[in-house]
Amino acid sequence: MKDKKEIRVGQVGHMFMGVAHSNAFRNAAAMYDLPYKIIMKAVCGKDTDENLAAFADRFGWESYEQDWKKLVKRDDIDLICIAAPGFLHKDIAVEAAKNGKHILSEKPLANTLAEAEEMVEAVESAGVRHCCGYTYRMTPAQAMAKQLFDQGRIGRVYDVFVRYAQDWLCDPNFAYVWRHDKELAGSGALGDICAHSIDGVRFITGMDITKLVSQMKTLITERPVDAGKPNGEKAKVTVDDVAQFLCEFDNGAPGCFEASRMAMGRRNYNSIEIAGDKGSLFWTFEEQNYLYFFDNTRPSTEQGFSKINCTHNDHPYGGGYWPIGHGLGYGDMFINQARLFLNAIVENKEFHPDFVDGLKVQQVLDAIERSANIQNWVSL
Ligand SMILES: NC(=O)c1ccc[n+]([C@@H]2O[C@H](COP(=O)([O-])OP(=O)(O)OC[C@H]3O[C@@H](n4cnc5c(N)ncnc54)[C@H](O)[C@@H]3O)[C@@H](O)[C@H]2O)c1
Repeated sequence: MKDKKEIRVGQVGHMFMGVAHSNAFRNAAAMYDLPYKIIMKAVCGKDTDENLAAFADRFGWESYEQDWKKLVKRDDIDLICIAAPGFLHKDIAVEAAKNGKHILSEKPLANTLAEAEEMVEAVESAGVRHCCGYTYRMTPAQAMAKQLFDQGRIGRVYDVFVRYAQDWLCDPNFAYVWRHDKELAGSGALGDICAHSIDGVRFITGMDITKLVSQMKTLITERPVDAGKPNGEKAKVTVDDVAQFLCEFDNGAPGCFEASRMAMGRRNYNSIEIAGDKGSLFWTFEEQNYLYFFDNTRPSTEQGFSKINCTHNDHPYGGGYWPIGHGLGYGDMFINQARLFLNAIVENKEFHPDFVDGLKVQQVLDAIERSANIQNWVSL
């Protein structure tokens, strides 16, 4: 086999996103013909030696670390993947950049706007490549939505209607985790899921928000510390369960966004509807291989939303490794993200979503919090 360039990866995080990225680094080169080898050097987590060793073994990491400061200094690593809570993103990214590592950081880019700005400054002055994990861009149908938009098939945007709804916090006995603590998570539904929606609309349309008015609600204000003891000690929830905002985009179009982790019956209902003078798009993650498209240029007797199966070879991501009609799943977004970002590193090309895209979203998150605090419109 011809010698291929190697990209040696170190990753912080070994739980939800830790699994998603480990799976991607492990399988990207098996599923796609890549011009480089991915070497999974070391994974780091806040856990026992035994659990980290077992995780490393399961996914094929060569070694593990318990201290991310050691990980980012290792000279056998080229890329750091940050799959840890928001309060760690800035410190890890800044240190990784100082050590010349390329960085893939989970979203939202940081817990605050100031931290996000520091991260952008760090990667730009170090001259390393960067990716912010707005992974839903990598679904076939969201990428297809962008393609139709760029072809002018939607035309002038009249309306944006976005809802990202989940229901995992409806249970008042769902125990307190880092996601309920503002110090650790930055915000609640806002940074966790609304951030994806803001990025999704920006990705598809290229439009930026110029002003907004919001409200943020915490409906269950304390939660049990121990999942097994609902009547035991409780901790105060310091983040929002629901965030909603109205906005105006730079072309004058109005937008309406909601993010909720308290929407009973909605499991991961991440949806975006964009209506223009030539057509409309509806994308929803739970049907990630399909895009709904209304084409206003068709004869009125034939109009209606068509449900496009986006797994044809000519669609973005070409149906992935599988034949037409077989579709991609949740893990495939991360494989797409890993391979495209690593391609950009090897080819020394710009990549999106990068930290600057992450910063753009962070500016909106910051404005939403400011608006909710003063209960009035704010400009960006
Ligand atoms: N792209 C997406 O769609 C998506 C989905 C879920 C979460 N996220 C983001 O991913 C990030 C991680 O979320 P998650 O759901 O994987 O969280 P998680 O709680 O499942 O995992 C957190 C990980 O961070 C590690 N960790 C915590 N403190 C640490 C420390 N001091 N040193 C080293 N490791 C430490 C833990 O050991 C664990 O492996 C967050 O920023 C979150 O917003 C993104």
